[in-house]
Amino acid sequence: MADRRPMVAGNWKMNGRGKDGVALAAALATRAGGMPRAVELLVCPPATLIAMVGKALGATAIALGGQDCHVRPSGAFTGDVSAEMLADLGCRYVLTGHSERRAGHGEDDTTVRAKAEAAHRAGLTAIVCVGETQAERDSGRTLDVIRRQLAGSLPEGATAGNVVVAYEPVWAIGTGRTPTPGDVAGVHDAIRAALGTRFATAEAMRILYGGSVKAGNAAELMAVSNVDGALVGGASLDPDEFWAIAMSVSA
Ligand code: PGA
Repeated sequence: MADRRPMVAGNWKMNGRGKDGVALAAALATRAGGMPRAVELLVCPPATLIAMVGKALGATAIALGGQDCHVRPSGAFTGDVSAEMLADLGCRYVLTGHSERRAGHGEDDTTVRAKAEAAHRAGLTAIVCVGETQAERDSGRTLDVIRRQLAGSLPEGATAGNVVVAYEPVWAIGTGRTPTPGDVAGVHDAIRAALGTRFATAEAMRILYGGSVKAGNAAELMAVSNVDGALVGGASLDPDEFWAIAMSVSA
């Protein structure tokens, strides 16, 4: 992993009431002292829970992130949350361009890029998600799709400090199916190369793998070249499972 600090990020998606989020955060907080400092841990709760989760995490080193942000800092955008609002709650990260936003909310690369720029404006690090669908993979277009998404979604000012890339094959999200380590290596190597054509700090940028990461497969996936951590959905709702993933990354 060169000198890149691995990250394990939990994407809670639209799950949890206050008591659930606080209990999950508290369960992680009690373990946090045992976390190797080499690994950066992040949780991205739904917007309604961010303040409570931040409080439950207290002074631990576990970071907070949002799952999405609007491109503007404030204004007449009913139902939206800005990057500045996330920063105000103590977030340091925000996911942009998750496939559930791209597919479910019609977000294209231009929007994702504008959201990453909004994150930077607010002082947040954008975790920019890319990934191919099953049909794109079946037709041999995986790398073309990933390169196009990177080209369109990453702002010019991207650096290792303000951007993390997450490769999440759409067909692997929530399905229990994962690409082979060889396939993951092929995509992550291609992402590293693509970053290198545009960004001076490409070698130091972290590239996470996401899509059905579990305690049982994390060690194998995290050992792959150019995999610098994991973006975890379903398994991040179980503190034991999430912790086991984090520990396997640090191993
Ligand atoms: P999953 O989700 O781990 O439940 O597959 C990953 C994600 O969507 O970030």
